[in-house]
Amino acid sequence: RIAYVNGAYVATRDAVVSIEDRGYQFADGVYEVCEVFRGALIDEDRHLARLARSLAELRIAEPVSAVALKIISREVLHKNKILNGYVYIQVTRGVAPRDHVFPPASVRPSLIVTARSVDPRKGDAAAQKGVAVATTPDLRWKRVDIKSIALLPNVLARQTAKETGAYEAWLIDAEGMVSEGAASNAWIINQSGTIITRQVDHSILRGITRTTLIDIISAHGLRLEERKFSLEEALGAREAFITGATTLVMPVVAIDGHTIGEGAPGPMALKLRSIFHDEAA
Ligand code: PDD
Repeated sequence: RIAYVNGAYVATRDAVVSIEDRGYQFADGVYEVCEVFRGALIDEDRHLARLARSLAELRIAEPVSAVALKIISREVLHKNKILNGYVYIQVTRGVAPRDHVFPPASVRPSLIVTARSVDPRKGDAAAQKGVAVATTPDLRWKRVDIKSIALLPNVLARQTAKETGAYEAWLIDAEGMVSEGAASNAWIINQSGTIITRQVDHSILRGITRTTLIDIISAHGLRLEERKFSLEEALGAREAFITGATTLVMPVVAIDGHTIGEGAPGPMALKLRSIFHDEAA
């Protein structure tokens, strides 16, 4: 496997970063995961725009232009012969002796780009059965709109979910409201058929899949409410699903062991998944 590391394409097993990289010492960096379907990078411009925003929020310089990043991503896909899977882009504040304060501007950010092949039929098979989610308290900081590589609460939540047999963790805020998944956005469809997902502010990541699905929902004239919903409301929902670059639209059939709807993927979630496939991917 080949990775891009600060200007060079190298074998992944030989690719190294400094022990003084601020990503390694402070998780001082941001990332993007972009889905690749039949050779195309899905919603690439939106991913690159979000990357630029995350960098600006943390006052990290853009390591290369968006145009250069597109070329690098394609080169990494090409060198690894990947048609379906993901591109991973990570930028950190660079290499400097450990000090919480930013290094001088002469320290350039570090950029790595890797790619991974995934069989799209795997996700389709999971979607036909639907997945279970398990809830855990949302222990994250107050700026999770920034796609930071500091993911320890997400890692712990996902691990706990996995240990209970669930596919994803839903993070519950201090008010008992569902924030989002550990690596996805959370959605429900209530008994009157309204699609509900949390509004964007600093408490969730503005998912690219979420944004594109909202475009689809409004183009198809479906009812959408962007607002918080409680775990209690979710347990009484007709359908539930999650969205993310690694899952697309994935039906949820159980939350903490409670069956949602009929305990099978909901018709609306499956329909949205197929429209997403046809229109966006
Ligand atoms: N995660 N919320 C969180 C906390 C996420 O980490 C992600 C994506 C999303 C969905 O965003 P998008 O639709 O842009 O993928 C929501 C990526 C896939 C990851 O960490 O692997």
